[in-house]
Amino acid sequence: MSGLDFARTSPLTRAFAGADPMDPRLQLTRAADTLKIGQYHRHVFLCVGEECCTKAEGEAAWEVLKKELKDRNLSLSVGPNACYRTKVGCLRVCQSGPILVVYPEGTYYFGMTADKIPEFVQKHLVEGQPIEDRIFARNPLPLV
Ligand code: FES
Repeated sequence: MSGLDFARTSPLTRAFAGADPMDPRLQLTRAADTLKIGQYHRHVFLCVGEECCTKAEGEAAWEVLKKELKDRNLSLSVGPNACYRTKVGCLRVCQSGPILVVYPEGTYYFGMTADKIPEFVQKHLVEGQPIEDRIFARNPLPLV
């Protein structure tokens, strides 16, 4: 069983229980378990690219997003508001940033500077109420 704790691992990790410990898929599924990938309800991508905002604006927004998600126990957590976050270099919009998109709704926000992040986290991620005056596009993904 390779020393796996069955009560705390994903079905995919358990599927690799008899695998060679050096099998990269086993290592990856363990990493995914640690990150709680497979248990999120939303995924937020924040662009910090310098075509849509300054480096300082993007990084400041990212730091506030990380802190807000952590403080509200939404990051690396489980539950209906559990949210994964990813910092990206470009979402191909390249203006009026920082640009932020949240899935599965596919809601695109503009101008998401650090001061706008706490309201976004509270309203959209916690209360499920998108902030309409900051949204410029929608591309909901079908649930699988
Ligand atoms: S640099 Fe932010 S969308 Fe392209």
